[in-house]
Amino acid sequence: MKVVYCSLLVFVITLRGCFLSDAYIDPTYGFVEVMLNQSNFEYQKPYDTPLDQRYSYQNGTHRFWVYADDKPFSLGSNTQPRTEIRILPDYTSGIWQFEGMAFVPNGTSGATIVQIHGAAHGNTTILLRIFNGDMRYYSTPVIATDLYDKWFKLNLIHDVDGGKVAVFIDNEERFKIHDQGPSMLHFKFGVYGAPRNISYYMESRWKDVKIYKKC
Ligand SMILES: *[C@@H]1O[C@H](CO)[C@@H](O)[C@H](O)[C@H]1NC(C)=O
Ligand SMILES: *[C@@H]1O[C@H](CO)[C@@H](O)[C@H](O)[C@H]1NC(C)=O
Ligand SMILES: *[C@@H]1O[C@H](CO)[C@@H](O)[C@H](O)[C@H]1NC(C)=O
Ligand SMILES: *[C@@H]1O[C@H](CO)[C@@H](O)[C@H](O)[C@H]1NC(C)=O
Ligand SMILES: *[C@@H]1O[C@H](CO)[C@@H](O)[C@H](O)[C@H]1NC(C)=O
Repeated sequence: MKVVYCSLLVFVITLRGCFLSDAYIDPTYGFVEVMLNQSNFEYQKPYDTPLDQRYSYQNGTHRFWVYADDKPFSLGSNTQPRTEIRILPDYTSGIWQFEGMAFVPNGTSGATIVQIHGAAHGNTTILLRIFNGDMRYYSTPVIATDLYDKWFKLNLIHDVDGGKVAVFIDNEERFKIHDQGPSMLHFKFGVYGAPRNISYYMESRWKDVKIYKKC
């Protein structure tokens, strides 16, 4: 009896340890969710193409796709084609977090699937691109590999006050870097053709997209 009791106790303590460390590795620990509704989403897609030819929302999954020879999001823009959701409103200070489950089909390459737009220096704080199944910060360095055809959890923390951005894949911190200075900032997700090495067809899928803020 004593032995059973003891191993039960050890089991309970181990379980508790697991839950505690889970709390620590959950990147949203200490953050509060910011409730989003449709008014927080601005859809960007090739300006001459109806949204439903580049985007769908079914069963809680956003699907974005775009072709390398599509038009930019606005007439006269010299940017590469995109189908993205911009999350409104902009933030300018504090600590913010984007979370989502992402899926990129094999074949999509060169595409930015998530970004923080705005920066004191340049146009963006961070671009996360998929090249041949690997995720890169801009064109280099590699943050994660072998991401095709599977759902993965992505968390992006932007500490504007501390000037830092961190990337988590499946709850593991994979990358941290200085940001590009404060500005009018917002998260975007979808597909955006990076300047070089883009595949003709680019697609990403997203679900459980959430925004959090540290109090
Ligand atoms: C959607 O969110 C906005 C901004 O947070 C809020 O002002 C608005 O009342 C919300 N609309 C609905 C239908 O909940
Ligand atoms: C959505 O869910 C329904 C019911 O489970 C299923 O029949 C359908 O194939 C799903 N559609 C997509 C695009 O996953
Ligand atoms: C992606 O597709 C290519 C071409 O069909 C194939 O060679 C490769 O093994 C695939 N990669 C993965 C990770 O499935
Ligand atoms: C910022 O965006 C503008 C407009 O698309 C572009 O002309 C400019 O080259 C970009 N600047 C940088 C540093 O990428
Ligand atoms: C881009 O394409 C060129 C030419 O195919 C190749 O040499 C280079 O490694 C590619 N870069 C990336 C990041 O895939």
